[in-house]
Amino acid sequence: MTLSHDRPAPPCAIVIFGANGDLTRRLIVPALYNLGQSGLLPPRLALIGVDHNDKNSEDWSAALHDFLEQSLAKGGEGALAKIKPEIWDPIARAMTFFKGDFTDDGMYARLGQLLAERDKNENLGGNVLFYMAVADRFFGIIAGKLGAAGLMQQGSGFRRLIVEKPFGHDLESAKQLNACLLQHMHEDQIYRIDHFLGKETVQNIMALRFANGLFEPIWNRDRIDHVQITVAESIGVEGRGRFYEQTGALRDMVPNHLFQLVAMTAMEPPVSFDAEDIRAKKAEMFKAVHPVTLTDVVRGQYDSGAIAGEPVPAYRKEPNVAPESGVETFVAMRILIDNWRWAGVPFYLRTGKRLAARATEIAIRFKRAPYALFRETPVEELDADWLILKVQPDEGIRLRFNAKRPGQVMALESVAMEFRYKDWFKQAPAVGYETLIYDCLIGDATLFQRADQVEAAWSVVEPVLKGWRNVNPRHFPNYAAGSEGPTAANDLLARDGRAWRRIR
Ligand code: BG6
Repeated sequence: MTLSHDRPAPPCAIVIFGANGDLTRRLIVPALYNLGQSGLLPPRLALIGVDHNDKNSEDWSAALHDFLEQSLAKGGEGALAKIKPEIWDPIARAMTFFKGDFTDDGMYARLGQLLAERDKNENLGGNVLFYMAVADRFFGIIAGKLGAAGLMQQGSGFRRLIVEKPFGHDLESAKQLNACLLQHMHEDQIYRIDHFLGKETVQNIMALRFANGLFEPIWNRDRIDHVQITVAESIGVEGRGRFYEQTGALRDMVPNHLFQLVAMTAMEPPVSFDAEDIRAKKAEMFKAVHPVTLTDVVRGQYDSGAIAGEPVPAYRKEPNVAPESGVETFVAMRILIDNWRWAGVPFYLRTGKRLAARATEIAIRFKRAPYALFRETPVEELDADWLILKVQPDEGIRLRFNAKRPGQVMALESVAMEFRYKDWFKQAPAVGYETLIYDCLIGDATLFQRADQVEAAWSVVEPVLKGWRNVNPRHFPNYAAGSEGPTAANDLLARDGRAWRRIR
């Protein structure tokens, strides 16, 4: 997260493993295009796509172009207006499709030759960014073979590797993957992506907290009653049944996306915006989180129901899902952070598919004012003050507080002040991959996860994964598609005398 985005990234080769995959067409290529549009792409670039299919470079680039155009027509990904030939053509010219099997040693030797050739012809300074846009079972294999072929050795230029999510499926596998990567390269060559960190609204949490004198003094246990973090989706598993059956909502969303939101909200102020200072504060925060016990977690699975008035099937009826599946599509949990700032302030997290709306927010509830002054008024019925950081959609910040309703009697009402990105900045925040790819190209690791962070996050949820492994949920499905999740999630807060905000 550079503080001044005004210079193009250095010349380099970008090698995308998984050139024909969904991630490449949906996010990586649109992000490269957007970077081109902002003048931030390397002035000299080689874009090498590796995949096992038979394809030539022209077909590859044409397919990516067509996809980009279609997504534009649908107003889709990437915040693009219209494909501009002056932006697209140089990217297309940089593209080379390279047929190869990720498990074949010979492929890496040939890739090395191609890289050397391109480097010489285009004067790329020896810089190479490898991007693993592939299924996670290939992460260790590719990293190992890149290392063995000497392709991660840095000479005059950099060699970096982007690792996508999921980073392991539990603590042990995350440790193994870290060990495998670190056997072949240094930590500062590894860029572990969590795309939530690319979102403007998530980065803005740091600006809100640390660029204002207003919030930080009240950002603690003295003033805050509790925090609710919601990542609700109205979509189902979208044809990813096979992946989801192995993953479930907890692994898919919690130790990564939700915990990043927790970290941004709860970390201590770093001494600088330097990547290591920020990552150290986050890692410290994760270490202070109590391991979660089963009584603090609720899981759910959606039944059939309706989304925006349209009937949708139950999870168990989705393609490639077992008819008796015990996989969760919803999780709610209560976590406690044992440090001076947060002791006794619960963080309630929830995420799920097929919920009432798509809504990601961090809601901070402040303690109530003392009542004395309003003894004769219905003030007890009013809500306490809330600060709501709306991550998506409708990005912005909303402050709810009490005001006097105009009139002769002293009656109070909860009112709101609101900041909306699209009104203020006249542009919607971008998808986020632009920032992440650019940051990696310029060597800024602030928005990427360090090995210790990833492991600390898995450690928090490890007791739950273990506990769930032995108990098949008999009550599934337990929430209707289009609802706000299982009733047990409400009980989790009711137990503490609290209630979830509505999902809308
Ligand atoms: C992905 C998960 O990492 O994040 C998906 O695998 C989820 O299941 C997605 O839908 C949510 O991301 P976003 O940016 O659409 O909120």
